[in-house]
Amino acid sequence: MKIAIILGTRPEIIKMSPIIRECEKQGIEYYILHTGQHYSYDMDKIFFEQLKLPEAKYNLDVGSGLHGKQTAKMLTGIEEILIKERPDVVLVQGDTNTVLAGALAASKLQIKIGHVEAGLRSFDRTMPEETNRIVADHTSDYLFAPTETSRKYLLNEGVSYDKIFVTGNTVVDAAYQNLEISKNGTDILEKLGLQEKEYFAATAHRAENVDSKERLGGILNGLSQIYKEFGLPIIFPAHPRTVKMIEEFGFKLPEGTRLIDPLGYLEFLQLESGARLILTDSGGVQEEACILKVPCITLRDNTERPETVDVGANLIAGCGEKILECTRIMMKSDCEWENPYGNGNAAELTLQNTVTGYSIEYSKTVSPEQMQY
Ligand code: UD1
Ligand code: UDP
Repeated sequence: MKIAIILGTRPEIIKMSPIIRECEKQGIEYYILHTGQHYSYDMDKIFFEQLKLPEAKYNLDVGSGLHGKQTAKMLTGIEEILIKERPDVVLVQGDTNTVLAGALAASKLQIKIGHVEAGLRSFDRTMPEETNRIVADHTSDYLFAPTETSRKYLLNEGVSYDKIFVTGNTVVDAAYQNLEISKNGTDILEKLGLQEKEYFAATAHRAENVDSKERLGGILNGLSQIYKEFGLPIIFPAHPRTVKMIEEFGFKLPEGTRLIDPLGYLEFLQLESGARLILTDSGGVQEEACILKVPCITLRDNTERPETVDVGANLIAGCGEKILECTRIMMKSDCEWENPYGNGNAAELTLQNTVTGYSIEYSKTVSPEQMQY
């Protein structure tokens, strides 16, 4: 069995890293195909270094651009490589343009596709990610759903029960594997002059937020309000897209908010786990906050991670007045929720299912006959 692992952005590198490690451990033949969607050192190479991942065998260097053009470049490049390599399975992860291109190219060549983190739905078709994940799910042969909720969404869309494997999310594997390691590295709290639980962490990068003057302004205003009320500094490692848009809109940073360069994964895990509360529009950060038992405020109008809200770890605030209101509520949280994303063995289960095609799950609680979706 030969597996092609296709990735291209920061979260895909992080969430695929446990699968890459597991391939190494089990001696499974694989290679990495990097689309180059992310390319800046601190959005790309730093994660290969920190997570000790082998270099990509191929890098398409597609870079940034309009969705159509970027996806088209990826499709052309991936197709060529897949024709040459003919892997048995292509694995893609998440909901980026890289996933869309990887799944489409493999599907046309009738190469089997495994979608890691399948079945997430925001039910918001204005998000490019929603289109990407729906197309990937419906072209895939193996759908690795993190939770029963994702399985339910897939079944509702007519995906065959046999194709779905509830594995948990590899974000848990990555956090568990690296949290201790991160504590032995750079002490980011010391470096930034922070005390544990005496600061907030924030991130924002979603196109619908940071490309909108009103919504990005609303987020900065929300941060200003919570600083006035709680007096805790807000550390904001900023995605390059966000930095660009803050400059373009001419926004001044509110008092208390410290914009810093994106952090490496090991430092960011420390920053997250030491935070009193996290404000974010990121998918992965919502999950990590939940896993690390840090209250989360989501700076969006919806989430494809409803499990985090259901367990009481996350509140959906949007980009306006509700940011302060939700922060007040979550500051009172006892942080006693359960992690809904699995045991940290999602990568192992994903590969077992990929190699055997036999359904091995972490939480197969119901049979197809019992399903009432
Ligand atoms: C992409 C994904 C998004 C994911 C995010 C993870 C799509 C449609 N979007 O969004 O789902 O949450 O990655 O971070 O696939 N830039 C750099 N250096 C880089 C990468 C980007 O400076 O290495 C800047 C460029 O100005 C670029 C902008 O960021 O135009 C946006 O990059 P792009 O990859 O198009 O989208 P993301 O916002 O990163
Ligand atoms: N992350 C990081 N450094 C940062 C910000 C985020 O390493 O400065 C990690 C974070 O731990 C998570 C992932 O990047 O695993 C989330 O990526 P992002 O928010 O860019 O994308 P999304 O998850 O929304 O697709």
